[in-house]
Amino acid sequence: MKTLRVNLVGREYDILIEKNLLCKSGELIKERFSPSKIFIVTDDNVNAIYGSIVTESLKDSGFEVKLVSLTPGEQTKSLEQLSYLYSEALAFSMTRSDMVIALGGGVIGDLTGLMAATLLRGIPFVQIPTTLLAQVDSSVGGKVAIDVKEGKNLVGAFYQPKLVIIDTAALDTLSDRIFFDGLAEVIKYGLIADDMLFNKLENCQNRNDISKCIDDIVYTCCDIKRKVVEEDEHDTGLRMILNFGHTLGHVVEKNYNYETYTHGQAVAYGMYLISIIGEKMNVMQKGTADKICLMLKKFDLPYNIKLADKISDTLGLDKKNDGSNINIVLLDRIGKAIIHKMPLSEFADMVQKEIN
Ligand code: NAD
Ligand code: GLY
Repeated sequence: MKTLRVNLVGREYDILIEKNLLCKSGELIKERFSPSKIFIVTDDNVNAIYGSIVTESLKDSGFEVKLVSLTPGEQTKSLEQLSYLYSEALAFSMTRSDMVIALGGGVIGDLTGLMAATLLRGIPFVQIPTTLLAQVDSSVGGKVAIDVKEGKNLVGAFYQPKLVIIDTAALDTLSDRIFFDGLAEVIKYGLIADDMLFNKLENCQNRNDISKCIDDIVYTCCDIKRKVVEEDEHDTGLRMILNFGHTLGHVVEKNYNYETYTHGQAVAYGMYLISIIGEKMNVMQKGTADKICLMLKKFDLPYNIKLADKISDTLGLDKKNDGSNINIVLLDRIGKAIIHKMPLSEFADMVQKEIN
């Protein structure tokens, strides 16, 4: 089993990575913690495949278990579902010495994490991520949140899990669309922090090739995220590099009302577009955008998305722009991100020219 330790003073935790860990979740928790009750939150898709495996493993280890399964999809990251979880957990008479488990993708992880952070002022929680995105990104680092009508992830907290159990065999049941969605974040890690990871992806031709080395890939990504989070847990500086491609990805998501493209697809295109712009600014090395484009084509990620004529509103630029600056993440080279500050209006003009 591959193990990483996230070192945050007083809130250290392990990330365990191996195939078929779900059926060992009971013993892995019992070796480390002693709750009497465990409240599992999952969604209906994940529950149908993995709910009973995890529940049985926890019961076999002597825990009293309650599982709540929610409707899959982003709309579940809501105040209503948060409130429903509070009621279900309180009806189970949980105390602060008990435990909450998030079993699922980033939606379940974010919602359950916020519930665990706030119920009884904080209950220990364990992440058991089952999508590639959740395994390499959202289950590590403690960002938990729900969406409100004003926008995505606007109500949340930093609340670190006590343990992350990553069963890479669970990825086998993902559709190609969701698998490659998560792969966009893997490509991102290669671009911002690890040229060898990027080379490894260049040498893989399809999902099967990726699956053969998935444990190493997930480990490498979690290790990159671990280092960034240890240095900047609360997102005041370095953690921004994890948002490479996300500013323009956000423009895509908003432009299509969060429906047509998944987050990973939007970020994939965002990484490509920002690289074209970075090259034109002479900050990024020529040829970087082409390499990214080849990678996106190979893994069925979009590299040519039509955007609305005017994107300045989405970038937060009103007509009477006061000349304020924006920090954008660019690449010094493949494997090294840099943060570049520039006037927002200048950036908006460059993006506008590129998409017209
Ligand atoms: P998701 O949780 O909606 O999962 C995608 C789909 O895959 C769902 O239909 C789910 O039921 C299904 N699924 C999950 N695991 C499966 C499996 N093993 N087999 C078959 N089907 C499975 O989406 P996601 O992409 O995992 O997460 C997206 C969310 O993550 C967004 O809300 C985003 O804001 C959040 N996020 C959070 C962070 C963070 O740092 N907290 C980082 C990135 C994204
Ligand atoms: N996914 C970005 C972050 O955790 O900061």
